[in-house]
Amino acid sequence: MATEPDGRAGSVTVRVPGKVNLHLGVGALGEDGYHPVVTVLQAVSVFDEVTAAPGRGVSVVVRGEGGSAATYEPGSGAGGEVVPLGPDNLAVRAALLLAEHGGVAADVALRLHKNIPVAAGMAGGSADAAAALVACDALWGTQLPRSELTALAARLGSDVPFALAGGTALGLGRGEQLTPVLARGSYSWVFVLADGGLSTPAVYREYDRMLAELPDQVELLRPAVAQPDDLLAALRAGDPAALAATLGNDLQLPALRLRPALRRTLEAGREAGALGALVSGSGPTCAFLASSPAAAEALAVELTDAAVGRAVRVATGPAAGATVVEG
Ligand code: C5P
Repeated sequence: MATEPDGRAGSVTVRVPGKVNLHLGVGALGEDGYHPVVTVLQAVSVFDEVTAAPGRGVSVVVRGEGGSAATYEPGSGAGGEVVPLGPDNLAVRAALLLAEHGGVAADVALRLHKNIPVAAGMAGGSADAAAALVACDALWGTQLPRSELTALAARLGSDVPFALAGGTALGLGRGEQLTPVLARGSYSWVFVLADGGLSTPAVYREYDRMLAELPDQVELLRPAVAQPDDLLAALRAGDPAALAATLGNDLQLPALRLRPALRRTLEAGREAGALGALVSGSGPTCAFLASSPAAAEALAVELTDAAVGRAVRVATGPAAGATVVEG
Protein backbone atom coordinates (compact mmCIF):
# COMPACT_ATOMS: atom_id res chain seq x y z
CA MET A 1 0.00 0.00 0.00
CA ALA A 2 1.17 3.50 -0.83
CA THR A 3 2.18 5.72 2.12
CA GLU A 4 1.58 9.45 2.16
CA PRO A 5 4.56 11.77 2.89
CA ASP A 6 3.22 12.34 6.43
CA GLY A 7 3.31 8.59 7.12
CA ARG A 8 -0.46 8.01 6.85
CA ALA A 9 -1.71 5.09 4.82
CA GLY A 10 -2.48 6.07 1.22
CA SER A 11 -5.12 4.71 -1.09
CA VAL A 12 -5.59 1.29 -2.70
CA THR A 13 -7.09 0.74 -6.16
CA VAL A 14 -8.56 -2.60 -7.21
CA ARG A 15 -9.54 -3.60 -10.74
CA VAL A 16 -12.45 -6.04 -11.09
CA PRO A 17 -14.10 -7.69 -14.12
CA GLY A 18 -17.70 -8.07 -15.25
CA LYS A 19 -19.03 -11.49 -16.22
CA VAL A 20 -21.14 -13.37 -18.70
CA ASN A 21 -22.97 -16.61 -17.93
CA LEU A 22 -22.03 -19.10 -20.65
CA HIS A 23 -24.60 -21.45 -19.17
CA LEU A 24 -27.36 -20.59 -16.70
CA GLY A 25 -29.67 -23.45 -15.80
CA VAL A 26 -32.32 -22.39 -13.27
CA GLY A 27 -34.32 -24.75 -11.04
CA ALA A 28 -37.61 -24.09 -9.26
CA LEU A 29 -37.84 -21.35 -6.61
CA GLY A 30 -36.72 -22.61 -3.21
CA GLU A 31 -38.14 -21.79 0.22
CA ASP A 32 -35.19 -19.49 0.85
CA GLY A 33 -36.39 -17.19 -1.96
CA TYR A 34 -33.57 -18.26 -4.29
CA HIS A 35 -33.44 -20.50 -7.32
CA PRO A 36 -30.88 -23.33 -7.40
CA VAL A 37 -28.66 -22.80 -10.42
CA VAL A 38 -26.09 -24.68 -12.46
CA THR A 39 -24.06 -22.00 -14.14
CA VAL A 40 -20.77 -21.53 -15.95
CA LEU A 41 -19.43 -18.01 -15.55
CA GLN A 42 -16.66 -16.29 -17.45
CA ALA A 43 -15.05 -13.04 -16.29
CA VAL A 44 -14.58 -10.57 -19.15
CA SER A 45 -12.33 -7.57 -19.69
CA VAL A 46 -14.93 -4.91 -18.97
CA PHE A 47 -13.46 -3.58 -15.74
CA ASP A 48 -14.53 -1.36 -12.86
CA GLU A 49 -11.92 0.23 -10.61
CA VAL A 50 -12.60 0.79 -6.93
CA THR A 51 -10.30 3.03 -4.89
CA ALA A 52 -10.34 2.93 -1.10
CA ALA A 53 -8.82 6.04 0.49
CA PRO A 54 -8.61 7.10 4.15
CA GLY A 55 -11.83 8.78 5.28
CA ARG A 56 -14.25 9.28 8.14
CA GLY A 57 -17.16 6.86 8.06
CA VAL A 58 -17.96 5.22 4.71
CA SER A 59 -18.53 7.53 1.74
CA VAL A 60 -18.82 6.73 -1.96
CA VAL A 61 -18.64 8.59 -5.27
CA VAL A 62 -19.35 7.02 -8.65
CA ARG A 63 -17.98 7.99 -12.04
CA GLY A 64 -18.60 6.50 -15.47
CA GLU A 65 -21.47 4.03 -15.97
CA GLY A 66 -24.18 4.75 -13.42
CA GLY A 67 -22.54 7.92 -12.09
CA SER A 68 -25.00 10.22 -10.33
CA ALA A 69 -25.70 13.75 -11.59
CA ALA A 70 -23.06 15.24 -9.30
CA THR A 71 -20.30 13.09 -10.74
CA TYR A 72 -21.70 12.56 -14.21
CA GLU A 73 -19.19 12.57 -17.06
CA PRO A 74 -20.54 13.33 -20.53
CA GLY A 75 -20.59 10.32 -22.81
CA SER A 76 -19.87 7.80 -20.10
CA GLY A 77 -23.15 6.93 -18.43
CA ALA A 78 -25.88 8.14 -20.76
CA GLY A 79 -29.03 6.05 -20.70
CA GLY A 80 -27.93 3.63 -18.01
CA GLU A 81 -29.15 3.11 -14.50
CA VAL A 82 -27.81 5.17 -11.61
CA VAL A 83 -25.77 3.49 -8.87
CA PRO A 84 -27.25 4.06 -5.39
CA LEU A 85 -24.98 6.13 -3.15
CA GLY A 86 -26.50 5.14 0.21
CA PRO A 87 -26.45 1.93 2.23
CA ASP A 88 -27.94 0.03 -0.74
CA ASN A 89 -24.61 0.45 -2.53
CA LEU A 90 -22.98 -2.99 -2.53
CA ALA A 91 -19.46 -1.55 -2.16
CA VAL A 92 -20.58 0.35 0.95
CA ARG A 93 -22.17 -2.82 2.31
CA ALA A 94 -18.95 -4.71 1.62
CA ALA A 95 -16.87 -2.13 3.54
CA LEU A 96 -19.27 -2.20 6.51
CA LEU A 97 -19.32 -6.01 6.58
CA LEU A 98 -15.53 -6.26 6.46
CA ALA A 99 -15.10 -3.64 9.21
CA GLU A 100 -17.54 -5.51 11.45
CA HIS A 101 -15.91 -8.87 10.71
CA GLY A 102 -12.37 -7.53 11.12
CA GLY A 103 -13.15 -5.50 14.24
CA VAL A 104 -11.88 -2.24 12.73
CA ALA A 105 -13.47 1.20 12.35
CA ALA A 106 -15.47 1.56 9.12
CA ASP A 107 -13.55 4.60 7.85
CA VAL A 108 -13.05 4.74 4.09
CA ALA A 109 -13.71 7.02 1.13
CA LEU A 110 -14.68 4.76 -1.79
CA ARG A 111 -14.37 5.91 -5.41
CA LEU A 112 -15.99 3.73 -8.06
CA HIS A 113 -14.91 4.17 -11.65
CA LYS A 114 -17.42 2.13 -13.59
CA ASN A 115 -17.29 0.62 -17.06
CA ILE A 116 -19.52 -2.35 -16.26
CA PRO A 117 -23.11 -1.35 -17.06
CA VAL A 118 -25.48 -1.06 -14.09
CA ALA A 119 -28.41 -3.47 -13.50
CA ALA A 120 -27.41 -5.04 -16.81
CA GLY A 121 -26.72 -8.74 -16.21
CA MET A 122 -22.92 -8.41 -15.99
CA ALA A 123 -22.73 -8.40 -12.17
CA GLY A 124 -21.36 -4.86 -11.96
CA GLY A 125 -22.65 -4.24 -8.43
CA SER A 126 -21.23 -7.59 -7.31
CA ALA A 127 -17.90 -6.66 -8.91
CA ASP A 128 -17.77 -3.42 -6.94
CA ALA A 129 -18.54 -5.30 -3.71
CA ALA A 130 -15.70 -7.76 -4.38
CA ALA A 131 -13.31 -4.93 -5.22
CA ALA A 132 -14.30 -2.98 -2.10
CA LEU A 133 -13.60 -6.06 0.06
CA VAL A 134 -10.11 -6.44 -1.43
CA ALA A 135 -9.34 -2.71 -1.33
CA CYS A 136 -10.51 -2.18 2.27
CA ASP A 137 -8.75 -5.37 3.38
CA ALA A 138 -5.48 -3.85 2.11
CA LEU A 139 -6.21 -0.30 3.34
CA TRP A 140 -7.13 -1.39 6.86
CA GLY A 141 -4.53 -4.16 7.09
CA THR A 142 -7.16 -6.72 8.09
CA GLN A 143 -5.44 -9.16 5.71
CA LEU A 144 -8.10 -11.84 5.86
CA PRO A 145 -7.33 -15.25 4.41
CA ARG A 146 -8.86 -15.67 0.95
CA SER A 147 -11.38 -18.21 2.25
CA GLU A 148 -12.76 -15.65 4.74
CA LEU A 149 -13.00 -12.94 2.07
CA THR A 150 -14.90 -15.43 -0.12
CA ALA A 151 -17.30 -16.26 2.72
CA LEU A 152 -17.98 -12.55 3.27
CA ALA A 153 -18.44 -12.14 -0.49
CA ALA A 154 -21.14 -14.86 -0.52
CA ARG A 155 -23.05 -12.98 2.21
CA LEU A 156 -23.12 -9.88 -0.01
CA GLY A 157 -24.60 -11.58 -3.10
CA SER A 158 -24.62 -14.70 -5.23
CA ASP A 159 -22.21 -13.31 -7.85
CA VAL A 160 -19.73 -11.62 -5.49
CA PRO A 161 -17.46 -14.67 -4.88
CA PHE A 162 -17.02 -15.06 -8.64
CA ALA A 163 -15.95 -11.43 -9.06
CA LEU A 164 -13.22 -12.13 -6.46
CA ALA A 165 -12.11 -15.29 -8.26
CA GLY A 166 -12.42 -14.33 -11.95
CA GLY A 167 -11.47 -16.78 -14.71
CA THR A 168 -14.03 -19.35 -15.77
CA ALA A 169 -15.94 -21.31 -13.14
CA LEU A 170 -18.82 -23.67 -12.55
CA GLY A 171 -21.27 -22.18 -10.01
CA LEU A 172 -23.77 -24.22 -7.98
CA GLY A 173 -26.18 -23.39 -5.16
CA ARG A 174 -27.23 -19.78 -5.74
CA GLY A 175 -24.23 -19.50 -8.06
CA GLU A 176 -21.81 -18.80 -5.21
CA GLN A 177 -20.36 -22.33 -4.81
CA LEU A 178 -17.53 -22.16 -7.30
CA THR A 179 -15.20 -24.64 -8.94
CA PRO A 180 -12.65 -23.35 -11.45
CA VAL A 181 -13.08 -24.70 -14.97
CA LEU A 182 -10.28 -25.31 -17.45
CA ALA A 183 -10.77 -22.94 -20.39
CA ARG A 184 -8.05 -23.10 -23.01
CA GLY A 185 -7.22 -19.92 -24.88
CA SER A 186 -9.07 -16.66 -24.94
CA TYR A 187 -12.58 -15.86 -26.17
CA SER A 188 -13.61 -12.72 -28.06
CA TRP A 189 -16.84 -11.07 -26.95
CA VAL A 190 -18.97 -8.14 -28.03
CA PHE A 191 -21.50 -6.71 -25.57
CA VAL A 192 -24.42 -4.53 -26.59
CA LEU A 193 -25.57 -2.34 -23.72
CA ALA A 194 -29.26 -1.43 -23.49
CA ASP A 195 -31.06 1.67 -22.34
CA GLY A 196 -32.13 1.25 -18.72
CA GLY A 197 -31.62 -1.84 -16.58
CA LEU A 198 -33.49 -4.98 -15.60
CA SER A 199 -33.91 -6.01 -11.97
CA THR A 200 -32.58 -9.52 -11.33
CA PRO A 201 -35.42 -10.43 -8.90
CA ALA A 202 -37.97 -9.17 -11.47
CA VAL A 203 -36.49 -11.43 -14.17
CA TYR A 204 -36.52 -14.42 -11.81
CA ARG A 205 -40.18 -13.62 -10.96
CA GLU A 206 -41.02 -13.51 -14.67
CA TYR A 207 -39.32 -16.91 -15.03
CA ASP A 208 -41.53 -18.27 -12.21
CA ARG A 209 -44.63 -16.84 -13.92
CA MET A 210 -43.71 -18.45 -17.24
CA LEU A 211 -43.15 -21.85 -15.58
CA ALA A 212 -46.53 -21.57 -13.85
CA GLU A 213 -48.34 -20.48 -17.04
CA LEU A 214 -46.73 -23.02 -19.34
CA PRO A 215 -46.00 -26.10 -17.21
CA ASP A 216 -46.15 -28.36 -20.28
CA GLN A 217 -43.40 -26.37 -21.99
CA VAL A 218 -40.72 -26.73 -19.36
CA GLU A 219 -38.26 -27.99 -21.97
CA LEU A 220 -38.74 -24.84 -24.00
CA LEU A 221 -38.52 -22.59 -20.96
CA ARG A 222 -35.37 -24.19 -19.63
CA PRO A 223 -33.04 -24.46 -22.61
CA ALA A 224 -30.02 -24.69 -20.31
CA VAL A 225 -31.28 -27.05 -17.62
CA ALA A 226 -29.17 -30.08 -18.59
CA GLN A 227 -25.65 -30.48 -17.21
CA PRO A 228 -23.33 -28.37 -19.35
CA ASP A 229 -20.98 -31.25 -20.26
CA ASP A 230 -20.67 -30.29 -23.94
CA LEU A 231 -19.99 -26.70 -23.01
CA LEU A 232 -17.25 -27.71 -20.55
CA ALA A 233 -15.71 -29.92 -23.26
CA ALA A 234 -15.73 -26.98 -25.71
CA LEU A 235 -13.94 -24.82 -23.11
CA ARG A 236 -11.32 -27.52 -22.49
CA ALA A 237 -10.75 -27.76 -26.26
CA GLY A 238 -10.56 -23.97 -26.64
CA ASP A 239 -13.09 -24.16 -29.49
CA PRO A 240 -15.20 -20.98 -29.81
CA ALA A 241 -17.53 -22.46 -32.45
CA ALA A 242 -18.29 -25.47 -30.24
CA LEU A 243 -18.72 -23.15 -27.27
CA ALA A 244 -21.16 -20.98 -29.23
CA ALA A 245 -23.26 -24.04 -30.07
CA THR A 246 -23.65 -24.90 -26.38
CA LEU A 247 -24.35 -21.45 -24.86
CA GLY A 248 -27.64 -21.37 -22.96
CA ASN A 249 -29.45 -19.14 -20.49
CA ASP A 250 -32.77 -20.01 -18.83
CA LEU A 251 -33.29 -16.33 -17.95
CA GLN A 252 -33.20 -15.31 -21.61
CA LEU A 253 -36.91 -15.95 -22.34
CA PRO A 254 -38.15 -14.07 -19.26
CA ALA A 255 -35.76 -11.21 -20.03
CA LEU A 256 -37.08 -11.12 -23.61
CA ARG A 257 -40.66 -11.08 -22.32
CA LEU A 258 -39.84 -8.05 -20.19
CA ARG A 259 -37.81 -6.45 -23.03
CA PRO A 260 -39.10 -7.63 -26.41
CA ALA A 261 -36.73 -5.22 -28.21
CA LEU A 262 -33.80 -7.45 -27.21
CA ARG A 263 -34.92 -10.01 -29.82
CA ARG A 264 -33.92 -7.53 -32.50
CA THR A 265 -30.54 -7.01 -30.80
CA LEU A 266 -29.82 -10.77 -30.74
CA GLU A 267 -30.98 -11.10 -34.35
CA ALA A 268 -28.73 -8.24 -35.48
CA GLY A 269 -25.71 -9.99 -33.96
CA ARG A 270 -26.53 -13.31 -35.62
CA GLU A 271 -27.06 -11.57 -38.96
CA ALA A 272 -23.72 -9.83 -38.54
CA GLY A 273 -22.00 -13.21 -38.19
CA ALA A 274 -21.67 -13.76 -34.44
CA LEU A 275 -20.87 -17.40 -33.60
CA GLY A 276 -23.28 -17.21 -30.68
CA ALA A 277 -25.72 -14.70 -29.21
CA LEU A 278 -27.40 -14.66 -25.81
CA VAL A 279 -28.72 -12.40 -23.09
CA SER A 280 -26.06 -11.90 -20.41
CA GLY A 281 -27.33 -13.19 -17.05
CA SER A 282 -30.66 -11.50 -16.25
CA GLY A 283 -30.07 -8.90 -19.00
CA PRO A 284 -30.64 -6.54 -20.66
CA THR A 285 -27.04 -6.62 -21.97
CA CYS A 286 -26.67 -8.98 -24.95
CA ALA A 287 -23.44 -10.96 -25.41
CA PHE A 288 -22.03 -12.11 -28.75
CA LEU A 289 -19.20 -14.58 -29.22
CA ALA A 290 -16.84 -13.99 -32.14
CA SER A 291 -14.25 -16.29 -33.70
CA SER A 292 -11.27 -13.92 -33.15
CA PRO A 293 -10.40 -10.44 -31.86
CA ALA A 294 -10.58 -9.11 -35.46
CA ALA A 295 -14.01 -10.69 -35.97
CA ALA A 296 -15.16 -9.11 -32.70
CA GLU A 297 -14.02 -5.67 -33.88
CA ALA A 298 -15.90 -6.13 -37.18
CA LEU A 299 -18.99 -7.37 -35.35
CA ALA A 300 -18.84 -4.36 -33.01
CA VAL A 301 -18.80 -2.00 -36.01
CA GLU A 302 -21.83 -3.72 -37.55
CA LEU A 303 -23.74 -3.72 -34.27
CA THR A 304 -22.96 -0.04 -33.76
CA ASP A 305 -24.25 0.71 -37.28
CA ALA A 306 -27.38 -1.36 -36.59
CA ALA A 307 -28.12 0.99 -33.65
CA VAL A 308 -29.67 -1.77 -31.55
CA GLY A 309 -28.31 -0.58 -28.21
CA ARG A 310 -26.95 2.48 -26.45
CA ALA A 311 -23.31 1.33 -26.57
CA VAL A 312 -21.12 -1.52 -27.80
CA ARG A 313 -18.09 -2.95 -25.97
CA VAL A 314 -15.46 -5.40 -27.20
CA ALA A 315 -13.90 -7.66 -24.56
CA THR A 316 -12.01 -10.88 -24.01
CA GLY A 317 -12.44 -13.63 -21.46
CA PRO A 318 -11.41 -15.12 -19.18
CA ALA A 319 -10.18 -12.13 -17.15
CA ALA A 320 -8.55 -12.18 -13.71
CA GLY A 321 -10.65 -11.55 -10.60
CA ALA A 322 -10.40 -8.53 -8.26
CA THR A 323 -6.73 -7.45 -8.22
CA VAL A 324 -4.87 -4.61 -6.52
CA VAL A 325 -3.43 -2.43 -9.29
CA GLU A 326 -2.23 0.53 -7.24
CA GLY A 327 -1.52 1.11 -3.63
O1 C5P B 1 -27.79 -12.96 -4.44
P1 C5P B 1 -28.31 -11.66 -4.91
O2 C5P B 1 -28.57 -10.69 -3.79
O3 C5P B 1 -27.49 -11.04 -6.01
O4 C5P B 1 -29.71 -11.97 -5.56
C1 C5P B 1 -30.64 -10.95 -5.87
C2 C5P B 1 -32.02 -11.58 -6.06
O5 C5P B 1 -32.03 -12.39 -7.24
C3 C5P B 1 -32.47 -12.50 -4.94
O6 C5P B 1 -33.10 -11.79 -3.91
C4 C5P B 1 -33.43 -13.41 -5.66
O7 C5P B 1 -34.69 -12.78 -5.82
C5 C5P B 1 -32.83 -13.55 -7.03
N1 C5P B 1 -31.97 -14.75 -7.17
C6 C5P B 1 -32.59 -16.00 -7.26
N2 C5P B 1 -31.82 -17.12 -7.38
C7 C5P B 1 -30.47 -17.04 -7.44
C8 C5P B 1 -29.82 -15.78 -7.37
C9 C5P B 1 -30.62 -14.65 -7.23
O8 C5P B 1 -33.82 -16.09 -7.22
N3 C5P B 1 -29.75 -18.14 -7.59
